[in-house]
Amino acid sequence: MNISLNTRFSDRFLNSESLSKNQKSSQSAHELLLSKKGAGNDYLGWIDLPEQIQNSDLDSYKEIASKIKKHSKFLIIVGIGGSYLGARAVIEAIQNPFEVYSEDSIKIIYAGHHLDADYHNHLIEFLEDKEFSVNVISKSGTTTEPAVAFRLLLSLLEKKYGKEGTKQRVFATTDSSKGALKKFSDEYGFKTFIIPDDVGGRYSVLTPVGLLPIAIAGVDITKLVEGAKQMRKELISETDPSKNLAMKYATYRNSIYQLGKKVEILVNYNPSFHFFSEWWKQLYGESEGKGHKGIFPASVDLTTDLHSMGQYIQDGERILFETVVSFNEPKKDITLGEREGDLDGLNYLNGKNLSWVGSKATLGTLVAHSDGEVPCLELVVPKLDEFYLGQLIYFFEFTCGISGYMLNVNPFDQPGVEDYKNNMFALLGKKGFEEKKAAIENKLKE
Ligand code: PA5
Repeated sequence: MNISLNTRFSDRFLNSESLSKNQKSSQSAHELLLSKKGAGNDYLGWIDLPEQIQNSDLDSYKEIASKIKKHSKFLIIVGIGGSYLGARAVIEAIQNPFEVYSEDSIKIIYAGHHLDADYHNHLIEFLEDKEFSVNVISKSGTTTEPAVAFRLLLSLLEKKYGKEGTKQRVFATTDSSKGALKKFSDEYGFKTFIIPDDVGGRYSVLTPVGLLPIAIAGVDITKLVEGAKQMRKELISETDPSKNLAMKYATYRNSIYQLGKKVEILVNYNPSFHFFSEWWKQLYGESEGKGHKGIFPASVDLTTDLHSMGQYIQDGERILFETVVSFNEPKKDITLGEREGDLDGLNYLNGKNLSWVGSKATLGTLVAHSDGEVPCLELVVPKLDEFYLGQLIYFFEFTCGISGYMLNVNPFDQPGVEDYKNNMFALLGKKGFEEKKAAIENKLKE
């Protein structure tokens, strides 16, 4: 079974002229991406990653995972943006959320993705008497948020385990030579994993950035990579834009965008998919939002958010379209039973599976939203497991490259992110940012 894109709830909004124009453009973008001659072509290492990952790499991540489990109950993943969202997306999609309450599983905690003092205080107090390890991830090795969190955690590790014990508990994932984290790790003797130079943060899930923490969390990374490999093969070899899933999705989302629908909502009906949407938002937002162009990526978790955002989607500004990700089969279904007296009025569902009830909620919502002038694309995925998540990761990355080229932007840089970083460095008084600081102070006086 393959992932498919159903366009039945968006076709009536589109005319064949626009679709065929965008199909042609998706074909040229596909060619440009694979020719590796387009903008940002020094960051295309992710295209061939699934084929390049060796079994020995996967084994080394699994080995670290089993070592960590011997001495640690908690793994703290320190990273921000592309350096943590991919791992979190996969871990939370696969793990049983209630396992955090069980004794024997390793618990994953995230840090370094904000600067909130209360969170860090709570975390440090909590970890004082716990056995933990840290995987610090930063490609540049200079991002403030993870660097601050790591500094705080390192002090705690050294206090608890001394310098030698700390070495066994810190794993750093960073660039091969640049940045403070590499130098720091070499100096302290931490085990380091290298992020390839030609893979940018948000395209790095299938490097040690994602694979190491995902393996430590007990998720099957071999299956994840297998899924990505299969999707890569299909997307690279299929040149017919009506059959290539990435070209088809890029064609539809751009055709809908050209109708003035500027916000794409990634919709899921599985709470465990929440962080996958967060990863997707970063991938598309940072890749396409340039030159005052690009679809704004948003997300909702349904049916939960139908009771909060549903009103706006149905009836607010008509600038929205949806991509609904639905999974054909749950891991295990639940059949509803009968109750004497039928006081809750649910006996009409006696004998029905919960996934069947959910499918009616999905269909009812699709009909309502498309009736409300929200075009809806449906991405139908056979199962929510490691194999199909690997497929989805590669599919979204590949489509993002195509879609960015269709929009005529460089989908592999993020100049806008640097602006806030530079202002923050200036305001913090970092060396080298004196001129910037003076400029900001002048602006604030105006
Ligand atoms: O996609 C990107 O490149 C960014 O979102 C980065 O992942 C994020 O800014 C973190 O950067 P770094 O890994 O250098 O700490």
